[in-house]
Amino acid sequence: MILVTGASGYVGSRAVRQLAERGAAVTAVGRDEARLRKVIPEGIPLVIADYDDPASLDRAFAHARKLIFVASDGFAEDMIRQHAHVIDAANRSPIAQTVFTSIVDVEDGSPFYFAPVYRDAERRLKSARFSSVILRCGLYSDFILQHWLRETVISLPLADARIAPISRDDVAAAAVHAVLGATDETWQLTGAASYSMAEVASAATRALGKPHSYQACAPEVYFERLAAGVDDPWPEAFSTLCASIREGRYAATSSHFSQEDFESFLKRSTQGQSLSRV
Ligand SMILES: NC(=O)c1ccc[n+]([C@@H]2O[C@H](COP(=O)([O-])OP(=O)(O)OC[C@H]3O[C@@H](n4cnc5c(N)ncnc54)[C@H](OP(=O)(O)O)[C@@H]3O)[C@@H](O)[C@H]2O)c1
Repeated sequence: MILVTGASGYVGSRAVRQLAERGAAVTAVGRDEARLRKVIPEGIPLVIADYDDPASLDRAFAHARKLIFVASDGFAEDMIRQHAHVIDAANRSPIAQTVFTSIVDVEDGSPFYFAPVYRDAERRLKSARFSSVILRCGLYSDFILQHWLRETVISLPLADARIAPISRDDVAAAAVHAVLGATDETWQLTGAASYSMAEVASAATRALGKPHSYQACAPEVYFERLAAGVDDPWPEAFSTLCASIREGRYAATSSHFSQEDFESFLKRSTQGQSLSRV
């Protein structure tokens, strides 16, 4: 039996459906039955478990052999605790293999708010009883579309740094591939091409049918804009992400799992296929 956590979300629900289509015995794990049922087809079993409730994780993992573990989100200290709960429960279970959605930006010197969170999870997985495939994901194409292409004038403190985005659909497909075949490996999941923000704006102009442009702004200006518009930890998370991008930490490309280039992804979004949370 393969379990998939985060199954009420985008990556998890796509992974569940793809596994079911391939005839695998799969169970969708989430913390809210109604949210799960909205996106998981009838006939696929559901299990309710919360990353903050170790007993619920023990029950969910009791008969599993494999696990796709979708990372948590939110405050760093909560994520570290929740990831530790999941990995500890997997260690107590019969699970022999996990696949974890990490990030490319886990190095010690990274300024990114979430770098220590994923570094901690990877360290715990590497010393776990079971084997793990670590999916080091680049910036999601979906993130750029939802957060940075809302305005046609893109104002970000990214100078001329480059990013190599990958779509969440490609991440879900890679997770399925990994859980069906690989064991102890670390995969870089980024786009096959990198873009400056000026190139992102040009791609958006062509794909979304509205003129977009990019203007570099100062880091403090971006932080102040975030602080006025979003709750903690997002001002710190998004502005340190930009600092990390400026250092070139999101520029590396890899073609192995990237099926869709960024502009094609944007075009697809105009057909309503990639904008929703799930
Ligand atoms: N590389 C990037 O650019 C990037 C950008 C954004 C996010 N991410 C990471 O990628 C992950 C997957 O992306 P996504 O788009 O699939 O996210 P998503 O649609 O927001 O789904 C996240 C899933 O995690 C579940 N979850 C959160 N906290 C939980 C908890 N305490 N216990 C059990 N389940 C919990 C959510 O359940 P509920 O439905 O119950 O909330 C949801 O099913 C995110 O969680 C985040 O860590 C990466």
